[in-house]
Amino acid sequence: MITKPLGGTDVQVPEIGLGVWQYRGGVAPLRHGVELGANLIDTAEMYRTEDVVGEAVRGMRERVFIASKVSGDHLGHDQVLRAADASLRRLGVDTIDLYQIHWPSRGKPIEETMRAMETLVDTGRIRYIGVSNFSTDELAEARAAMRHHPIVSNQVLYNLRRREIERTLMPYCLRHDVTIIAYTPLDSGRLAGKPGLFAAKGAKVLHEIAGARGKTSAQVALNWCTAHEGVIAIPKSDSVERTAENCGASDWRLSAEDMARLDRAFA
Ligand SMILES: NC(=O)c1ccc[n+]([C@@H]2O[C@H](COP(=O)([O-])OP(=O)(O)OC[C@H]3O[C@@H](n4cnc5c(N)ncnc54)[C@H](OP(=O)(O)O)[C@@H]3O)[C@@H](O)[C@H]2O)c1
Repeated sequence: MITKPLGGTDVQVPEIGLGVWQYRGGVAPLRHGVELGANLIDTAEMYRTEDVVGEAVRGMRERVFIASKVSGDHLGHDQVLRAADASLRRLGVDTIDLYQIHWPSRGKPIEETMRAMETLVDTGRIRYIGVSNFSTDELAEARAAMRHHPIVSNQVLYNLRRREIERTLMPYCLRHDVTIIAYTPLDSGRLAGKPGLFAAKGAKVLHEIAGARGKTSAQVALNWCTAHEGVIAIPKSDSVERTAENCGASDWRLSAEDMARLDRAFA
């Protein structure tokens, strides 16, 4: 599994992690994914999957990088501290490796939220601070609100069919050592062959490239994400087989020509 630095830290994270929103796979897919090197698991207080993550990492906690999130509705100072403590209890761990603000607050000042996030680092309850669904301006404001810890990541929608972040957010994150954690990297399964609205031209090129490289469409779609500097992806799968397939999206690279064809086909 290829790894990338987390923000400007010396921690390495896998380029394919395991998402657990709407996850119903039990411990086996998660444990198998970790065995294959996908040792970052992304959950959130609102997913109601922290307990299964805790169960999955029991006995191998030190090998797994756990990411969770505080809901965007709990961003008052004391709410953040309470939410983190509740997540720690549900996960059954002493520390959350990456604690992310799930979406920007509609009412609480970012300074207030970040003061609580920094307290969580200072008291050892979390190791690193991240955000999610932050625009470039919101990320810049959040970075300016930090007193002594950096924001290491921004978790955002990114896949072949949803490329809005390429315009300003992605270059900003690269300039400021903020890792992009690409969520819904398979477009909810549509890029992996699940039925749904799909540009015929893009589908044809994706299948052709997958066939020519001896990979699956899911693997090509994930590799396209992680071929971008500073980007890791967190597909979700309930199955051991598809988790293994998704892990097989790493340790190789699409050619520059394949990347250009995909870019054109999904433009
Ligand atoms: N921060 C946020 O606001 C936010 C929002 C959305 C998602 N996320 C995170 O991103 C993670 C992934 O996003 P997502 O769950 O929305 O979508 P996704 O990973 O793009 O797609 C998941 C869907 O694809 C299917 N799938 C996975 N691998 C497959 C394969 N190899 N072949 C065929 N089908 C496959 C899954 O079905 P099976 O399970 O049956 O395999 C599931 O239906 C979430 O779990 C969550 O951690 C974060």
